[in-house]
Amino acid sequence: MEKIAVLGTGYVGLVTGAGLADFGNEVTCVDLDETKIATLKQGKIPFYEFSLGEVVERNVREGRLSFSSDLIAAIRAARTILIAVGTPPGAKGEADLSQVFGAARTIAEQMTSYKLIVQKSTVPVGTGEKVLRLVESVLAERGKSIAFDVASNPEFLREGSAVEDFMRPDRIVIGTWSPKAEHILSGIYQRFYLNETPMIRTTVQSAELIKYASNAFLATKISFINEMANLCEAVGGDVKVVARAMGLDGRIGRKFLHAGPGYGGSCFPKDTLALASFSRAAGEPSKIVEATIDVNKRQRRRMLEKVRDLVGSLSGKEIAVLGLSFKPQTDDVRDSVAIDLIKLMQKEGANVRAFDPVAMERAAAELRKVEFAEDSYSAVKGADALVIATEWNEFRTLDLTKLLRLMRQPAVVDCRNIYDPATMEQAGFRYVSVGRSTYVPDRSGAPASGGVKKVIASTNGAGGKKKAGARRAGVGRKK
Ligand code: UDX
Repeated sequence: MEKIAVLGTGYVGLVTGAGLADFGNEVTCVDLDETKIATLKQGKIPFYEFSLGEVVERNVREGRLSFSSDLIAAIRAARTILIAVGTPPGAKGEADLSQVFGAARTIAEQMTSYKLIVQKSTVPVGTGEKVLRLVESVLAERGKSIAFDVASNPEFLREGSAVEDFMRPDRIVIGTWSPKAEHILSGIYQRFYLNETPMIRTTVQSAELIKYASNAFLATKISFINEMANLCEAVGGDVKVVARAMGLDGRIGRKFLHAGPGYGGSCFPKDTLALASFSRAAGEPSKIVEATIDVNKRQRRRMLEKVRDLVGSLSGKEIAVLGLSFKPQTDDVRDSVAIDLIKLMQKEGANVRAFDPVAMERAAAELRKVEFAEDSYSAVKGADALVIATEWNEFRTLDLTKLLRLMRQPAVVDCRNIYDPATMEQAGFRYVSVGRSTYVPDRSGAPASGGVKKVIASTNGAGGKKKAGARRAGVGRKK
């Protein structure tokens, strides 16, 4: 059992703190924001994260987890201190580390015995060393010689499944510079020895880079498949099939190959920018990551073009948007495509009515003049187009007949490819998705050949005939 203080009660801090308490450690989660701490003390979680409430409640009840805004007391009481404060993007894409250094400075100013300072927030390579030097210099100013270590222990938690990811990780990364630090950190994660979770023990720098490299690689997979989707639209192909076939190659893997409106959220956009920024600063610019960022930006704009292609000028048009969070199972709207897209559509004169099962309150803080609906059907009433921006499960099974009846124009832009183009066309919709062209060559002049006709029928659902150049179903226009 280790005495741990977790500084910062955001997603990472709270999930990690609760999870480590669940493993038998004694954890105090600290935040300078007293309202937040008061909320947590009342048993309320300040954001939506599946099953986190249960874990927090259980560990508070069993006396292993507590909350406090008394930073100094928490620092003094714990041997291991996890820094899980925010690292928002700075002006040039670099991570703003002022909160990290602020926390490290306070630890150095207040510590009276050995501390293991563990970096949990995602920070550029080299930050661990800067923290080490900072603590050394503050201790020197104080005229104290107190032993301490610095470690990096990145998290790989996905919002919406953060608790599950914490409890069943693919790997644990422990970056240290001393056997003592390695020993303490390994002890905290002792529970994982039982289920043989791979534990990567390495230096602080490698651990820092592993986090960025992993996120940037996943973001690159997404931008890559989005480019393939755009290519499908141009040459006639179905990106879902392409991705599935690619993913069946074990070397590629099927995950993170879903084409869509581009990645969002609190990690990928920020981490790719930060990696691009510090690799440039290190004299080793990453062309791949820069391209990934660029493709992602363009992909967002493409969604707007898809809406325009379907309904023409957006001025005065009523647009329904389903989904506001950056992905399902979360109320997080940070860097959400939906929010961006709504703003872009409003700029062109559209009136927007939106619905999201959990993210409307948070979205309301980001948006102006959006009408929030009670459910999907009230959102689409009288709409000239429906934009599906987030793939919440409940949007996958909408009653199409009802939808058709309620909408003014039967136009659907499915940014997440959750509907089947043929079914939508058959149901009477003008339907556009991402990278799923239903183009087949016109063979009306050729003698009938059963096999081909059949394929055409099941691909189009349009009676086996498709006009030449009818690549629209999956498309926007060619760029
Ligand atoms: C991510 C990482 O997965 C996690 O390991 C890291 O620690 C934090 O960042 P998260 O941001 O919660 O987690 O969401 P994730 O599920 O990874 O999705 C990120 C974005 O990529 C979302 O906008 C999602 O819609 C998009 N995405 C994901 C795609 O567009 N296509 C895919 O195939 C997968």
